[in-house]
Amino acid sequence: MAAATQALLGELEIPPSRIACEAFGGTSPTTDEPLDTNDYPLRFLPSGTTCVARGTQTVLDAALRSGVTFDQGCLAGVCGRCRIRLVEGEVATGCEAGLSAADKKAGYVLACQTKPRGTVVLADE
Ligand code: FES
Repeated sequence: MAAATQALLGELEIPPSRIACEAFGGTSPTTDEPLDTNDYPLRFLPSGTTCVARGTQTVLDAALRSGVTFDQGCLAGVCGRCRIRLVEGEVATGCEAGLSAADKKAGYVLACQTKPRGTVVLADE
């Protein structure tokens, strides 16, 4: 649809410099990664709430099923509303467009794009 709209604007002789286009979605998930069906414990600070997440499940899904509340929006790694700090543990991450370089350096991850790869501790601060 974006390409068709750009073509139409070109036919109307709108200069390209006056056309802005946004793209969403980040990188495509890899399909050659083996499914991780192990269960991993998650702990949320400061409440200390714990739950279990399967390796195929995001931190956000596991948290919500366990009653941990989260701010959320796009569920695609773009808006950044589910940002949470990784205190400890190994994770696999998807699209991180919703994080700034400073967020990443400070250890933040996006709960909707993060899957555990071991015991994980996260802090909502
Ligand atoms: S809900 Fe938007 S980045 Fe996670």
